[in-house]
Amino acid sequence: MTTTITITGAGGQIGYALLFRIAAGDLLGPDEKVRLRLLEIPQGIGAAEGAALELQDGAFGLLEHVEVTDDAATGFDGADLALLVGARPRGPGMERGDLLAANGGIFGPQGAAIAANAAPGVRVTVVGNPANTNALIAAASADGVPAERFTALTRLDENRARAQFAQTLGVPVATVGRLPIWGNHSATQFPDVSHATVAGEPAAEALAAIVGDVPAWLDETFIPRVAKRGAEIIRVRGSSSVASAASATIDHVRDWVRGTEDWTSAGVVSHGEYGVPAGLISSFPVRAVDGEWRVVEGLEIGEDARRRIDASVAELVEERDAVRSLGLI
Ligand code: NAD
Ligand code: LMR
Repeated sequence: MTTTITITGAGGQIGYALLFRIAAGDLLGPDEKVRLRLLEIPQGIGAAEGAALELQDGAFGLLEHVEVTDDAATGFDGADLALLVGARPRGPGMERGDLLAANGGIFGPQGAAIAANAAPGVRVTVVGNPANTNALIAAASADGVPAERFTALTRLDENRARAQFAQTLGVPVATVGRLPIWGNHSATQFPDVSHATVAGEPAAEALAAIVGDVPAWLDETFIPRVAKRGAEIIRVRGSSSVASAASATIDHVRDWVRGTEDWTSAGVVSHGEYGVPAGLISSFPVRAVDGEWRVVEGLEIGEDARRRIDASVAELVEERDAVRSLGLI
């Protein structure tokens, strides 16, 4: 079988980091052939065409076909997976809210083009910021495609959280589990250590033994470090994260398609779980089962966690109201 994958913004930085990993089989495994559709705007077509030439030169056995286009109907034709990366990235000093108007106009037409042209079971992952609200806009414009098929990337935040947690505890990152992100992919996000495990065992005691005052460490060190990591990368590199974002995108889509053994994080449509207003695309602890994300239900939410989740969700509500007033949903 061959999977058709559309990547928007394929001529950009993240696109370049994604394409070769997909062609190498990191997304769908060593037996699944892929057909790539690279959707760009006219200014980005040259870069996407250059990437297509390099894909050819990579002689990837799994890569059946590459098409470069600036036409959304062609770009999403038959797409099983759509990775919506193309957007204007945040520069130094910009907050994600500044991007709403700039990027909101992109995702409505793309949602409509997905509904009209993609495969019936299409799964959409929005990477372009502000990712949660862009996913909301795309879903709202995609008549007939269930909102559950539109997701926003918060796996990069979870990967960052797991890496910081592992470094603090002095354990391999692969042993850290159950460290979900709640809310928005923004500085208000809540990386939640209250259920964290190391090698499958609760990590609370080990954490307290190392950091002492856990609430102070969360407040002053861990949560700001994770939530502001995007800005830190921009400050240090001079532009926003690329390879780590592409890698997290691979993690997200691979897990969605192939399933998870334990919890991870994804921005998915709320059905009112944990008091998050229905219809928002919010990050939750999730599992992927039978090709669908399922929110992990029944978790106890402490007072501090409740306050932090509510703050991030309030920002999502503000973003939704802003794009509503711009006529984008
Ligand atoms: P980039 O500027 O290098 O590339 C963006 C590409 O998108 C450009 O080639 C541009 O021509 C193209 N593009 C713009 N509008 C388009 C449209 N309507 N259709 C198709 N293509 C279009 O940026 P980048 O570094 O690759 O980042 C892409 C996006 O990903 C940004 O919004 C960035 O903020 C976001 N991002 C998200 C996460 C996350 O975790 N969710 C992490 C990192 C970056
Ligand atoms: C990130 O988290 O690295 C990206 O969303 C880029 C940004 O604007 O922070």
